[in-house]
Amino acid sequence: MKTIILNGSPRKKWNTAMMLKEAQRGAESVGAETEYIDLYDLTYTGCRSCLACKRKGGERCKCFWKDDLSPVIDRIFASDALIIGSPIYLGDITSQVHALIERLHFCSLSYDNYSNYFTGKVNVGIILTMNAPKTFYDLSYRKKAEELAQIFKSLNGSAEVYASCDTLQVMDYSKFNMAGFNEEHKKEMRAKQFPEDLENAFQMGALLSKGK
Ligand SMILES: Cc1cc2nc3c(=O)[nH]c(=O)nc-3n(C[C@H](O)[C@H](O)[C@H](O)COP(=O)(O)O)c2cc1C
Repeated sequence: MKTIILNGSPRKKWNTAMMLKEAQRGAESVGAETEYIDLYDLTYTGCRSCLACKRKGGERCKCFWKDDLSPVIDRIFASDALIIGSPIYLGDITSQVHALIERLHFCSLSYDNYSNYFTGKVNVGIILTMNAPKTFYDLSYRKKAEELAQIFKSLNGSAEVYASCDTLQVMDYSKFNMAGFNEEHKKEMRAKQFPEDLENAFQMGALLSKGK
């Protein structure tokens, strides 16, 4: 079993990364081989519309653009599980994650009949972290998050989302113009809710990496 973990946050040690490291530990607890990649370390863009992936007689499920992402896409198609983490930025996933999704999905999509070229199976877990409390997530973000999971059904495995809400954005709110947040409440969430989120991330990593 091979599990790829992609950090779609620019921060390498904070909420999203912490969740992903737990998911990685979960995957390894069931014997999976894991690879952890910080997407912000890679140089790439979204799809360049070169259409090399649609060339007659060409290889399928292959992004031909020569940059840091194409080899990662190759490895995702060859993996058994994929766990992607993203903070919510302006109500959405980060631009790095969006660019990855464009590239990954376009090269497996048939423009002959919109079928799926990919015949393998990769289980997918999406971990979202956000300032928004759970009630706001349920009301405003959940639908989009579930649609996002649906996109990954094209990898023919399971696709699930976990939302870690009301995260602690900075350690010391008094140093920033962030009066809109209640530091005491944020610290309480970090102490009480976040450990549960980490445990759930561990379980997600284990479950998705358990077998085809
Ligand atoms: C540019 C930017 C935009 C953000 N937009 C939102 C947002 O629309 N909704 C939200 O709930 N949180 C928003 N946040 C907060 C982050 O999603 C949240 O702090 C997240 O847990 C950060 O993850 P990280 O610690 O891995 O960087 C935003 C943060 C930044 C930097």
